[in-house]
Amino acid sequence: MCGIVGYVGPKDCSEVLVNALTKLEYRGYDSAGIAVFDNGEIKTVKTKGKLQDLKDKLAEVGTPKGHVGIGHTRWATHGEPSDVNSHPHSGTRVTIVHNGIIENYMELKDFLISKGRTFLSDTDTEVVAQLLDYKYNGNPLETIDSVMAELKGSFALGIMFKDFPDRVFAVRRESPLIVGVAEGECFIASDVPAILQYTRNYYLLDHDEIVTLSPDGVSFVDEHLDPIEKELQTADWDMEAAEKGGYPHFMIKEISEQPEAIRTTIMPRIKEGLPFLEECGITTETIKNFKNITIVACGTAMHAGMVGKYVIEDIARVPVNVDIASEFRYRNPIVGEGDLVIIISQSGETADSLAAMRLAKQKGAKTLAIVNAKGSSIAREADMLIYTLAGPEISVPSTKAYITQLSVMYLFAFELALAKETISTAECKRLVSALTKMPEAVQYVIDNCEDTCKFVATKLVATDSLLYIGRGLDYALSMEGSLKLKEVSYIHSESYAAGELKHGTISLIDEDVPVIAVATQTGIIPKTISNVVEVKSRGAKVILVCTDACARELKDGVADYVIEIPHTDELLMPITAVVPLQILAYYTSINRGIDPDKPKNLAKSVTVE
Ligand code: F6R
Repeated sequence: MCGIVGYVGPKDCSEVLVNALTKLEYRGYDSAGIAVFDNGEIKTVKTKGKLQDLKDKLAEVGTPKGHVGIGHTRWATHGEPSDVNSHPHSGTRVTIVHNGIIENYMELKDFLISKGRTFLSDTDTEVVAQLLDYKYNGNPLETIDSVMAELKGSFALGIMFKDFPDRVFAVRRESPLIVGVAEGECFIASDVPAILQYTRNYYLLDHDEIVTLSPDGVSFVDEHLDPIEKELQTADWDMEAAEKGGYPHFMIKEISEQPEAIRTTIMPRIKEGLPFLEECGITTETIKNFKNITIVACGTAMHAGMVGKYVIEDIARVPVNVDIASEFRYRNPIVGEGDLVIIISQSGETADSLAAMRLAKQKGAKTLAIVNAKGSSIAREADMLIYTLAGPEISVPSTKAYITQLSVMYLFAFELALAKETISTAECKRLVSALTKMPEAVQYVIDNCEDTCKFVATKLVATDSLLYIGRGLDYALSMEGSLKLKEVSYIHSESYAAGELKHGTISLIDEDVPVIAVATQTGIIPKTISNVVEVKSRGAKVILVCTDACARELKDGVADYVIEIPHTDELLMPITAVVPLQILAYYTSINRGIDPDKPKNLAKSVTVE
C-alpha cells in the first residue's frame, strides 16, 4: 500500500531516494519522506502530501547530504495523513520505513508504554521502530530477527541503525520488496520501476529474509541468521516502459500499449495454432478432470473473471463461479479436491486474493494464478501460473493488465474446451487464430474511436450519476466500463444486466441519468436495443457502443451518440469493446480536472484487507 526505497552508494542519496520514490507514487501519495545519514547523524525530512510537497520541503529546510538512506511514499492505513504520521519513523537509535500492516501493534504499543516509551504518531510503524530500539543489543541482524518474531501482519521494512552509518537493513513478510544491485551501489524498493533508472539487476527477497546493504554490496540471511545465496534477476523492462513516453498520463499511455501487451502475452503461448500453456503447468491432461471452476479476484481483475466465466461456460461447458476475494475468504466456500480455483491479480500482492488462494489450497483445490507482477506472492504460491506480460502498469486504473487478463482467460478457455472435447481441434485453431488478430483490432479501435470518445466525454462532464447496460458478455464487460468511469471521474455509476432494469432500477432513469449501452453480441442485440428504447423514452441520453454491423441497422434517434467498433469473432468482442469504455473514462476524468493516474482514495496495490 505504500512504497519504500533505500540506497547505499556513492551518489547523492537524497536525490536517488526522491527519484526512486517518483516511480512508486502509484502505491500511495498522501505523504512522503526520506532519512539520510548526514555527517553520522540520521536526518529525516517528511511531510503530508505528494512527492512534490516533499521536494518543496527539502528545498525549504535543506536536503540531507549523504550516501546512505531510506525513503517512503504513503497510503495511510493507521493514522490519518499528516506530517507526524508520515514515514520515516524513529526510536532513539533506529529509523525505519514500512509498507504493510502490523496487526498486533496495539498490544506491542501497550507493552512499550508499560516500559516507559512514548509515541509521537498514531502509526503501527512507529511501534516497530520503538520495538527495534527497545530490543537493540548492538547487533542489527539479531535485533531485527527477534522483532520479526513478535510481529503479526505484513511488512516490508527499510531500517537504519544510528551505530551503522554505512548500512541499510531490510526485511519483508507478505509485502513486496526487491533488492537492486549495480557497480558500487545497492538499493531496496517495493517495485522494480523504482530502480530501473539505476540498474536492471535485482534480487527477490523472500519472506523473513533479511538483507544488508553496505558499500561492499548486499548480503542475505534467513530467519535463523544463516547466510543465503540468491539468484540474480534481470528486469526485461526498460526505463522508457516505466516512464510516460510523451503521453500526458500513464493511463492513456497504457491504453495505447494494449495491442503490444496482448501480442506479448499470447504469442509465446501459441504453438502450431493451438494454445500452448505447458510451461505454465497446463496441459489437456492436467485440466481435463476439473468439474468446477471458481474465479477469485478483486475489482478489475474480478471483471476479467466475469468475462472468463461467460467464455468458459459457453465453450468448455464447465460451471464457473466468480467470487469477490474478500467474500470468498470469509464464507467457508464450497471448493475442494478436484476443483480449480483461478486467482487473477495484476499486482500479485492483493491481500484478499492472496488469502483466498491460500484458503483454496488449504481446502484441497488446485490453484491457477493469472498475474502480471513477476515473483509476486500470488505468483510464487500458486500451483499453476500464467503471467500476463503487460509490463509495468503504473496508472492506478487498470487497463492493459485487464486486457491481458482477458487474453489469458481466452487461451485458457480454448485449452480447457479442447481438453473437455467440447470443441474440435479445428474450431480451437479458428478461435486461436481470431485471438491473434485482436492486437490489430484493438489498434484500429484506438486509432478510430478516440476522437468520438473524446467528444462524447464532453457530454458527461456535469453528470452526477449514470448507468451501464448490456447482456451476456456485454454485461460482463460493462461492469469494467462502469468501474473505470467511476474511479477516475468520481461520477456515480452502476452496471446492470439490461434485462434486469425494469425490475427496479429503471425508476432512476430521467434526463439527468445518461445510459451507456454495450451491444456487440449479434443474437441479443435486438433485446439490448429494446432496453435502449425504453430508457430513451424515459428521457435518458443514450451512448451506444456497438459493432459497425449493429450501427448500420440502427433506426434514427435510437441513441444520442454511437461509438462503433469493428465486428470480430463474437466471443472475443470484449477485448475490443473495452477500449472505448476506457478512453471515455479517461477523457471524462480529464474534463473534470482529475488526474486519472492518481484518483483520490485509491492505491495501485491493495496489500491490506
Ligand atoms: C481498478 C483496479 C482495481 C484492481 C484491484 C485488484 O482499475 O485496478 O480494481 O483491479 O484492486 O488488484 P490486483 O489485480 O492487483 O489484484
